[in-house]
Amino acid sequence: MAHRVFNFSAGPATLPLPVLETIQNEMLDYHGEGMSLIEMSHRSKTFDALVVETEALVRELMGFSDDYQTLFLQGGATAQFAAVPLNLSRDGKTAEYINSGSWATKAIKEAEKLGKPYRVIASSEDDNHTYIPTDFVVGKDAAYLHITSNNTIFGTQWQEYPDTGDIPLVADMSSDFYCRRFDPNKFGLIYAGAQKNAGPSGVTIVVIRKDLLERSPKDIPTILNYKIFAEKNSLYNTPNTFGVYVVNLVMKWIKDQGGIDAVEKVNRQKAQLLYEVLDSSDFYRPHARKDSRSIMNVTWRLPSEELEKKFVAEATENELVGLKGHRSVGGIRASIYNAMPLEGVQRLVEFMKDFEKRNG
Ligand SMILES: Cc1ncc(COP(=O)(O)O)c(C=O)c1O
Repeated sequence: MAHRVFNFSAGPATLPLPVLETIQNEMLDYHGEGMSLIEMSHRSKTFDALVVETEALVRELMGFSDDYQTLFLQGGATAQFAAVPLNLSRDGKTAEYINSGSWATKAIKEAEKLGKPYRVIASSEDDNHTYIPTDFVVGKDAAYLHITSNNTIFGTQWQEYPDTGDIPLVADMSSDFYCRRFDPNKFGLIYAGAQKNAGPSGVTIVVIRKDLLERSPKDIPTILNYKIFAEKNSLYNTPNTFGVYVVNLVMKWIKDQGGIDAVEKVNRQKAQLLYEVLDSSDFYRPHARKDSRSIMNVTWRLPSEELEKKFVAEATENELVGLKGHRSVGGIRASIYNAMPLEGVQRLVEFMKDFEKRNG
């Protein structure tokens, strides 16, 4: 057995062990082809079949209707910050954004840089993004509304998505796609860098409602053009073949767990364990407001930076790694994506209680 620690890193993040084992087993000889998947032409029948299967799996697991298409793109979620305004802006219409954290801010800056008309209709900047803004009205004539579903850095998450009617709802779900059940058919476009909940870095999952493909202008860079990538079934140029392969395995792993509902149940259990400790302690101070808490990234502070450093160091000695918070929040962040086993969180919670006893 390989030596494995509990990895609470925000991303790239822990992957399901059975997925890693399959990759290992198939590395020298993928399905009897005498070569690994990553040595194979992206124009081969085998890879083409893998893309077709994964495209459907991504939609099927979440319950997207046939009105949607999955794309596998590159450049991370950061490329999507530019691709969304480039493809979905409309003459005479203003794009609307909700600023719930650093990644939302970056998405907004990209729209601004591209000179696209936009407006920020709500923000949680006034309280260092401890909450998800709920007080806003979506313009009847907006080009789209962009939200960040889960704020990886701050540990906040939309509890209920806004109803935008005919206005396309666009969401960055990089850190919470596939973590819980929701109605995906209310969205115009969802994007997610795979490296947290769905696979390795280097592949971005985009699911777009097909009618929106008609908005993509001809004069934008090809690499960011949704319509072209949709027409070519994500194979306009060489995709991240390894990334698509791992996403395929992760989707099958979620299915094997019993699907989204089963995975959500465990995710809620894990989050509850952590929040219970935070709520019953004066030593640990959670960053996110109760009504906005994330079940994927849990963030908290300790009484001093010195204790925070000690916490991270001792946790690492106990094989609980990747717990240092992002500098804009400080403190501790436990990323508990789908692949983090319940046992990992149980171990963390025990460690937290013990640490408090010794240092509180
Ligand atoms: C919510 C969210 N959006 C965007 C990004 C940026 O993603 P990438 O590094 O794939 O461009 C991240 C990365 O952590 C994220 O958590």
